[in-house]
Order: sequence, then C-alpha cells, then structure tokens
Amino acid sequence: MKIFLDTADTTIIQEMKEMGLADGITTNPTLIAKTGRKFDEVIKDICAIIDGPINAEVTATTAEGILEEAREIRQWGEQIVIKIPMNREGLRAVWRLSEEGIPTTVTLIFSVPQAILAAKAGARYLCPFVGRLDDIASEGTNLLYDITTVLNQYPEWDCEVMAASIRHPLHVVDAARAGVDVITIPPKVIDQMLLHPLTDRGIEQFLKDAKLCYS
Ligand code: E4P
Repeated sequence: MKIFLDTADTTIIQEMKEMGLADGITTNPTLIAKTGRKFDEVIKDICAIIDGPINAEVTATTAEGILEEAREIRQWGEQIVIKIPMNREGLRAVWRLSEEGIPTTVTLIFSVPQAILAAKAGARYLCPFVGRLDDIASEGTNLLYDITTVLNQYPEWDCEVMAASIRHPLHVVDAARAGVDVITIPPKVIDQMLLHPLTDRGIEQFLKDAKLCYS
C-alpha cells in the first residue's frame, strides 16, 4: 500500500518525504489556494521534491479544454498525474489521455458505478471520497470495500484505488482493511497517527531510568 500526501505545502512535503511517507502527492484547487501561490509554481516546486506521482487537478469543463490543460501541465514534470473530475466530459478526456499514455486520476468518485466507468475509461487511479460521504451520513468506508471487491474481480482493468477525503486515523485503518492500493492522507492525520499516550509515557520512563545506568 502506498501513502500519498494530501497537501500542496512544500515544507511539509519535504519533511514527510524525509520520514519515507511521501510515495506521491495529491493536490486540488482548494489545497493550492491555501498556499497563497500560483498553481504552476506550486506544482513545479513539488516536482523538484518528489519523484513519485504528483496529482495536479484540471479546471477546464470540456474534454477538449481538459486535454489542452493536461498537455500543458504535463510539461512541468513527467511524474505528474492529471486529476480529472468524474463526469461525462472528464471521462472523454481520460480515455484520450490514456491513449496518449498520460496517466489520470478520476476524482470526486462517490459510487461504485462511477468507479466502474472511470476504470473502463482508462483511469490510472480511482479516487473515492470517504469523509465527504460521512459528512452526509453515508458510510464512506463501505464504498472502499465495494470498489475494491469489484475491481479485484477484473484485474484487466489496470487501475489503482486511492482512498481520499481522509479525515482521521480510523479512515486510514478502514482503507487499509479494504485493501486499497493508495491512501492519500492530509498531514494533520499523519500527525494524529503518530501519537499514542503510552508511547510518550514509555519514552519518559526510559529516559528517567537511563539517567541511573547510562554513561
Ligand atoms: C484528494 O485528492 C482530495 O481532493 C481530497 O482528499 C479531498 O479531501 P476533503 O474532502 O477533506 O476536502
């Protein structure tokens, strides 16, 4: 299972890369806007740090517009994956880009039927949103189980399931149990995953006892 970082903050990306926690990156317009910088500058900076897949989201709403935007974005780095929202025009672009050998992620997936269409269109990554389903009182993690169950039956669909919209550590555990290929995790959730009060208490005790017998 791969871990992608769900952030456009290059300082955090560098720090987490040094802990081996950045197999790839996902961004979206909201995450880029949070940096206060321009889209192209941020993506190029991330490309200089990370060799793995870097998801950059298009904003064009027609297939032709998406193709044009995608080809431009891909010039910024070979590792860039074009992130495309799930809809009719998006899938037309996904198909064309897959024919050109340009990898895509279909984002904003909220149902198994959407995942099936995205897989058939040739997406490299399918991106179901867990937290946003929970927000509307629908079990987000059930969607992960359903999608992985379906995809496991069709290995010829050469795509990976990437759990997104992860809001807390239990989402990560559920995604891992569901057998997803990738989880894209916000830095705040990585911080939460690191912590356990018994770890802190244990370190404190060992340091105290070490003073009695070390050196
Ligand atoms: C990542 O690719 C998604 O855009 C992101 O995980 C969405 O997360 P959110 O629902 O917390 O905004």
